[in-house]
Amino acid sequence: MKLVILGAKGMLGTDLVRACERSGLEAVGRDLPELDITEPKQLERELPSGDWVINCAAYTRVDDAERERDQAFALNAEAPRYLAGICAGRGTPFMHISTDYIFDGSAGTPYRENARPNPINVYGAGKLAGEKAIRAQGGHYIIVRTQSLFGVHGPNFVKTIAGKLRESDAPLRVVNDQVSAPTWTGHLAEALVKLARLKQKGVVHVTASGFCSWYDFACAIADRVKPDARIEPVSSDEMKRPAARPPFSVLDNSRFLSWTGEALPSWEEGLEAYLKEEGALL
Ligand SMILES: NC(=O)c1ccc[n+]([C@@H]2O[C@H](COP(=O)([O-])OP(=O)(O)OC[C@H]3O[C@@H](n4cnc5c(N)ncnc54)[C@H](OP(=O)(O)O)[C@@H]3O)[C@@H](O)[C@H]2O)c1
Repeated sequence: MKLVILGAKGMLGTDLVRACERSGLEAVGRDLPELDITEPKQLERELPSGDWVINCAAYTRVDDAERERDQAFALNAEAPRYLAGICAGRGTPFMHISTDYIFDGSAGTPYRENARPNPINVYGAGKLAGEKAIRAQGGHYIIVRTQSLFGVHGPNFVKTIAGKLRESDAPLRVVNDQVSAPTWTGHLAEALVKLARLKQKGVVHVTASGFCSWYDFACAIADRVKPDARIEPVSSDEMKRPAARPPFSVLDNSRFLSWTGEALPSWEEGLEAYLKEEGALL
């Protein structure tokens, strides 16, 4: 099986290429500058053929998206439309990665795939527009919604917190009113490979098992990296950022479980695996 992976040099894309290679699948990676997914003519000419096209490329700077709406929508809404259209025309299944940020986070219980979306920031609105555009092309697709990714090949929360802990003994202030399931890209990449072997179609939620606040997650990182560190819980109101975040955007993974027979490991196991890969465990 040959998988064409877009955004192959990004945090998830890099792990996905490796997961394919470990599973004995052929991975053909593309990223900037060689292939720009916002250029439909270039895509028509140069998108490689394969058994799946998997799009891990995106505009992922959530706060910057508030003032760069056009760039965020070009990558997260228009580009998936071009890709899904080309794939539908070629009869190639298309897998796309979306986000918990299409939800407003007010439900208080984990979101099922058919829950009503209501994005509260520009990034989430762009990703939701991308999902709708993919569905409208009429081809075979899987949209994987995931959240709070961390992997060694990109900037992420674990790297930031561990870095700050190593640099200074000053207390760290971390929000305790945003709850999600931090998901290691190594585990997610293996899940995407599993999905590519199935005939299923539609939207599926794929995250680590369990959930926690960013404060809980920071404490778990500190436990493993610098146990005497001081972490202080604060509210999102005290730590204002340009983009609003959903307070509880945990995703229900039961469809993934029913499709594959397995849940992803817990966020704690993902953290251990990440720190081991990074060589950062005590
Ligand atoms: N990170 C998270 O917490 C999170 C949470 C939920 C969902 N997701 C979704 O998961 C997917 C992977 O996220 P990630 O964090 O791994 O992303 P990432 O590290 O930002 O990687 C995205 C990759 O896409 C490339 N890219 C940007 N513009 C492109 C273009 N016009 N044409 C081709 N490639 C382009 C980037 O290249 P440059 O670096 O050169 O720009 C980068 O290599 C995305 O769909 C994201 O929305 C992420």
